[in-house]
Amino acid sequence: MENNIVALLEKVKNEILASESTSHINEVRIKYIGRTGLLTNMLKELKNLPSQERPTVGKFLNEARITIENLISNKLAELIVYEQKKKEESELLDISLSLPSFKRGVLHPLSIVKSEIIDIFTGLGFSIEDGPEIELSKYNFELLNIPADHPSRAFCDSFYISDNILLRTQTSGIQARVMEKTVPPIKIICPGKVYRPDDDATHSPMFQQIEGLYVDKNISLADLKHILELFAKKFFTESTKVRFRPSYFPFTEPSVEVDLSCAICGGVGCSLCKGTGWLELLGAGVVNPIVLDNCGISSSVYNGYAFGIGIERATMVKYGIPDMRILFDGDVRYIDQFR
Ligand code: PHE
Repeated sequence: MENNIVALLEKVKNEILASESTSHINEVRIKYIGRTGLLTNMLKELKNLPSQERPTVGKFLNEARITIENLISNKLAELIVYEQKKKEESELLDISLSLPSFKRGVLHPLSIVKSEIIDIFTGLGFSIEDGPEIELSKYNFELLNIPADHPSRAFCDSFYISDNILLRTQTSGIQARVMEKTVPPIKIICPGKVYRPDDDATHSPMFQQIEGLYVDKNISLADLKHILELFAKKFFTESTKVRFRPSYFPFTEPSVEVDLSCAICGGVGCSLCKGTGWLELLGAGVVNPIVLDNCGISSSVYNGYAFGIGIERATMVKYGIPDMRILFDGDVRYIDQFR
């Protein structure tokens, strides 16, 4: 019997040693010291042995059982650590893996310039206002002092939907809408699409404007020049100069065309500025008192300035683009240059 136990012990030791997984070591445990295991059964058969042999064999069997339990729990601890390590290794993320390259899209130059202009004016305290593209002639014309006999009111100059509804020709209508319901101070910019039946290298039936309006007490042409100078320096360069030329708009009095010194030649004259040293950029002026009164703001208390920038025009001037239609072609090879 004792020899059998020694042989069995030897066999178990070898099996434990060779064991490579926690599930296998559990099988070994069941096989030898489980409820019907080989060693457990030997312990059960003790009662059949002659009584004088029982204590020695019993002691021997119990010691063998303790040895096996110790061996198994040591090996089990070792295998748990080993298996955990293997699992962690298999889950490691290889961040050095190179992926196939892909091409990112770029913003359209008009979007770049639009958000640049918006950023500059919101940075100067202007807030953004929106309005309808299909507009009542009341807001597009009447309140803005554009009389019925003004050339831009002729049907050929606007896209009419009915007698008094049209695709807005300027975003100034938003200014009228805001003035009608707001007590000054008003300091807004109105970006948006506008529509006019023109189509050539420098005109498009749809283009975008950003118009600005500041209404408060004691506003003068000097304030307008100051704000446009700040804008020009940020939009082009610190050395950019602003020039006012007299002009006419029904909604401003006095009215001015605003030129900026050419950013390419610095004012000396080049092909972009057609040798003049100046780039024509926007229209502006002091808000006509008639417009303020039309919109319910007393012109004896308040005054203000307004300006209107064409986004396409600003983009062409900034990047030296000769033909506006390039901007609407949707040719990605062209757009890609703005990456
Ligand atoms: N609304 C004018 C246009 O469409 C631009 C402008 C705005 C001029 C404000 C003066 C003042 O051309």
